[in-house]
Amino acid sequence: MSNSLRKVLVIGGGGREHAIVWKLRQSKRVGPIYCTPGNAGIARDAICFDAPWGENFCELVRRALTLGIDYTIVGPEAPLAEGIVDAFEKAGLKVFGPSREAARLEASKSFAKEVMQAARIPTAMAQTFTDAKEAQKFARKLGPPLIVKADGLAAGKGVTVAYSLEQAYEAIRRNLVERQFGAASERIVIEEFLEGEEASIMAFTDGNVILPMASAQDHKRLHDGDIGPNTGGMGAYSPAPVVTDELMEEVRETVFLPLLEELQRRGIVYKGVIYAGLMITEEGPRVLEFNCRFGDPETQVVLPRLRNDLLDIVEAVCDGRLCEHHLEWDPHVAVCVVMAARGYPEAPEKGAVIEGLEDVMLDGRVLVFHAGTAQRASDFVVAGGRVLGITALHTSLPRALHLAYQEIQRIRFDGAHYRRDIAHRALERLEGGAD
Ligand code: AMP
Ligand code: GLY
Repeated sequence: MSNSLRKVLVIGGGGREHAIVWKLRQSKRVGPIYCTPGNAGIARDAICFDAPWGENFCELVRRALTLGIDYTIVGPEAPLAEGIVDAFEKAGLKVFGPSREAARLEASKSFAKEVMQAARIPTAMAQTFTDAKEAQKFARKLGPPLIVKADGLAAGKGVTVAYSLEQAYEAIRRNLVERQFGAASERIVIEEFLEGEEASIMAFTDGNVILPMASAQDHKRLHDGDIGPNTGGMGAYSPAPVVTDELMEEVRETVFLPLLEELQRRGIVYKGVIYAGLMITEEGPRVLEFNCRFGDPETQVVLPRLRNDLLDIVEAVCDGRLCEHHLEWDPHVAVCVVMAARGYPEAPEKGAVIEGLEDVMLDGRVLVFHAGTAQRASDFVVAGGRVLGITALHTSLPRALHLAYQEIQRIRFDGAHYRRDIAHRALERLEGGAD
């Protein structure tokens, strides 16, 4: 099979998966790409299908075996936390992503904390609780502002920044007494509040070698000025100017390498992408969280800058040969602005017809990644909360921003919402936004 084209399956159906599929499409060694469930935009680059996963992913495994899939790439955290990688590997399939045990770095914040503490990775001082009274006692000791985190996966809603003890007690009660997020609320982590600028660094790893990717910064809040509810992410840019070369090296040395060593010590092989969400404080970088997968929308700005063939990297990760590679980056700046549906994130309205997609200048500098879209007759319609990600690449951040905002105006749908201030902090850092 060494000269034949590879068949790749991508699991997921958001902007991140569209960016992965788009990047794979550029590889001369990739043949058919399948995606489940995919979306209306992905369907232009890949064969999308809906399939029940089945108990322990047995239906999906059967499908992958029938299709003769060579490599599977898993986008979202939920199937990783449920053991999709273990199920695929048991069936002899090659799959890009961490095992269920390794994915606990994202699926359990108390586990991640314990690993960080054991590996002496810089992070906020914290303790884990199952008892509300004990949790309150610690909150009093820490004093506001402080952070209360549900232990398990809570779709980005599990973190409370408490500016008063009352708010902290309320968050403790919602989790430990009311079980707001079900089993994810059985345990909480309470930690000190860190001040600084946030940045994300994702890295490829095969369990032995770690290759950090270009830095990125996302925008979690719904509205301009970082107000409103937390979302999956309303936009991103790469690189993040706050992450200097020295800082990148510091994160490699003090976060990624000790993390891998600690996991190895525990007999856990981590394969795929590890994502470190960082707070860059005056005392240096501190880890806020680990994710066990590509970030979304970060992937929509990082993969367009990656010069390597993604299949080469995926193969090397799966086969434990990442040491043979190094990553190369396009020096252009990438910006992604997310268009969301009315009502996102609580109750996004579906069904609006999306117009103007054909007017966007798609010359390689502007990319439109689909997230919540579906095809209805000849129309694209809104089918999810985050609808589209408009990525623009240019020689400077102001130019990339200008291009992204120029092109996004061509796209229209009823209820469309997007932030107008993506990358505002980076612009301030670039001395008042001078080009
Ligand atoms: P997480 O899911 O753990 O990354 O938390 C979500 C968001 O909460 C982060 O992106 C930060 O904005 C904020 N956050 C989490 N932990 C802290 C902390 N220790 N100090 C300040 N802000 C935090
Ligand atoms: N954008 C944050 C995440 O992917 O978790």
